[in-house]
Amino acid sequence: MRAIALFIASSATIFLASPSRAQDAAAGEKVFTKCKVCHIADQDQNKVGPSLHGVIGRTAGTHPGFTYSMAMTEAGKSGIKWDEPTLTKYLQDPRGMVKGTKMAFPGLKNDQDVANVIAYLKQFSK
Ligand code: HEC
Repeated sequence: MRAIALFIASSATIFLASPSRAQDAAAGEKVFTKCKVCHIADQDQNKVGPSLHGVIGRTAGTHPGFTYSMAMTEAGKSGIKWDEPTLTKYLQDPRGMVKGTKMAFPGLKNDQDVANVIAYLKQFSK
């Protein structure tokens, strides 16, 4: 029942939100199931990918204890910080934005999914 309600709610959000793209953290939690194999957001713990706890406002490639690709380290050195615009670009096309990233994820095709997963991540960032 809850899943159905969620589905209806998120479809309604997509419908009503365009083109303003309201963000929906609850729908974002569902999108985050695609990231969960590699990332944790609600705790500061690295997995296959770096922890996404507090990722908003963090300079790319700087989470302690994680071995980033050269590409991600360089992205951080060039001044890339994770905020809404940079995360949107990265999540839509990881390899397009950070050429050589070792994140083995093709990207999210649905812009609403991107906005929602960022809303979800915001809950674990100050
Ligand atoms: C198959 C594993 C995998 C999946 C799935 C995955 N990631 Fe990643 N992610 C990584 C790895 C590995 C890195 C480190 C990339 C590098 O060093 O080039 C990374 C890096 C990142 C970064 C940069 C973090 C930093 O500290 O600079 C963000 C943000 C991110 N991922 C978000 C996501 C989100 C959101 C999803 C789901 C939509 C996702 N990832 C799916 C493995 C994954």
